[in-house]
Amino acid sequence: MRIGVLASGGDSPGMNAAIRGAVLRAEVFGLEMIGFTDGWRGFLDGEYIQLDRKAVRGISPTGGVIIGTSRVNPFSSITGEPEDYEMIKRLIQDYGIDGFMLIGGDGTHKVSGMLQRNGIPVVGLPKTIDNDIAGTDYTFGFDTAVQVATDAIDRLRTTGESHKRCMLLEVMGRNAGWIALHAGIAGGAHVILIPERAETLDQIVAWVKHVHERGRSALVIVAEGFKLKGDDQVTQESLDGFGRERLGGIADVLAPLIEENTGIVTRATVLGHLQRGGSPSAFDRVLATRTGMAATTACYENNWGQLVVARGNEISLAPISEIAGKAKTVPQSRYEEVRVSFG
Ligand code: F6P
Repeated sequence: MRIGVLASGGDSPGMNAAIRGAVLRAEVFGLEMIGFTDGWRGFLDGEYIQLDRKAVRGISPTGGVIIGTSRVNPFSSITGEPEDYEMIKRLIQDYGIDGFMLIGGDGTHKVSGMLQRNGIPVVGLPKTIDNDIAGTDYTFGFDTAVQVATDAIDRLRTTGESHKRCMLLEVMGRNAGWIALHAGIAGGAHVILIPERAETLDQIVAWVKHVHERGRSALVIVAEGFKLKGDDQVTQESLDGFGRERLGGIADVLAPLIEENTGIVTRATVLGHLQRGGSPSAFDRVLATRTGMAATTACYENNWGQLVVARGNEISLAPISEIAGKAKTVPQSRYEEVRVSFG
């Protein structure tokens, strides 16, 4: 059996550990693995590398992904045209592969679902720092991103306290507030703002003033997808490779508004891609390695159309058809749990 591994979408710490896990298990079963470079681009252009034991030596602690990734779409339209599927099937034959191992986030697994429905064998590995894939408790990369954001809060807190300023930290997450929520709790932020819950400026100002009146410097963490009540999300001008609006910039909108309405000097920091770079945490390495191993087992057993999921301490499989296109956002109850203590 020969498997084609492909990574698509934004990178996420732990992708290399997942590839290593998959290759180690492939060796046990005697499977051959090739990795297409830069996502669908490599598949379409005939670029791939051999993924054997030597190729994955020592890569578990490394960030990025050795085969590269991109947001290149294999389809000519949103739903995919019959000729797209025919072309993919033809290339699969040319490469002599029996199926795909697709490493990706929500956009990628929408594609996984479409391929599977059209008779193309796929096993999916969920990765994203956003942790927003339905059906799995955690995606690899999330834990590392939360740690980076927590470190940033710890640092902003000391400089904020020295200057009696309000410090605002913007984190990623697209339409899910998981990074903001978890880093906010871990770092003891005074206010956590997430996409799942719009707040008024008056409410945010009241929280910041209350912190100030207690003699503290307010630390506010805001997810890039957060919107003020009645406002739209703040977006960048360009779209991403999947045609989605790029988010980001809310901290720079909020900071002057907070300063103007509280009289407290306010500074914004946008953490950006620091959340995606660098070495994965031990948790992410373990999760990714186990996910990669389970993905190879699924291929070997011809268990196609499955996403490898983490539920509690167990790694198992769930049909891509049940998960593709569904997002896992922060439940209001999880937000309420901490919101009552803001300010
Ligand atoms: O999906 C992961 C993610 O990091 C999001 O949190 C963020 O909105 C987006 O990717 C950024 O994408 P890019 O790397 O294309 O700027």
